[in-house]
Amino acid sequence: MKKLISVFLIMLALAVPSFAHADAAVKPEADSTSLQAGTTWTNQRGSTLTIDSVGSNGQIAGTYVNRAAGFGCQKTPYPVIGWIYGTAITFTVAWKNPSASCQSITAWTGFYLKGEIQTKWQLVEDGATNPSQIMQGSDTFRRAAGEKETH
Ligand code: BTN
Repeated sequence: MKKLISVFLIMLALAVPSFAHADAAVKPEADSTSLQAGTTWTNQRGSTLTIDSVGSNGQIAGTYVNRAAGFGCQKTPYPVIGWIYGTAITFTVAWKNPSASCQSITAWTGFYLKGEIQTKWQLVEDGATNPSQIMQGSDTFRRAAGEKETH
C-alpha cells in the first residue's frame, strides 16, 4: 500500500509542472509585430495612436491624433500615457494641447491579439456630475497602413 501511495505521489509531482506549462501555452503571447515603441496604430474612426516609448516597467508614452467624426479636438497630436502588461494595454488622453482643448479625458483599455488592439473606452468631460454622462464605446486599432512589419 505504501508503495502504491509513493508511486501516486511521484506521478502527481511529475504531473503538476506539466499542468502549469499547459496553462502558459494557452495564454496568448505577444508576437513580433506587437506593442512596441515606434509603432503607429489606426482605429476604425481613422484616429491614430503612436507609441513612442515603452519603459522596462511597461509604462508607455506617445501621441494620439483624433479623426473621429462627431468629436472635437481633431487632427492635432495629444500626449498619450499608459501601461502595457504583456498583451494587455491601457492608455489615456487629456484633450488639451496648444491648438485645442475639449475639457475632456478618454481612457482606453484592451488587449493586443492577432495584429489588433481591441479596446473599450470611456470619455468624461470636465464638470460631469453623473456617471450616466460618461460616454463609452469600442475602438479597434490595426498597424497603420504602410508601416513596415519590422517591430
Ligand atoms: C472630445 O470630443 O471631447 C475630445 C475628442 C474625443 C475623441 C473620441 S475618444 C474615443 C473615440 N475614439 C476616437 O478615436 N475618437 C473618439
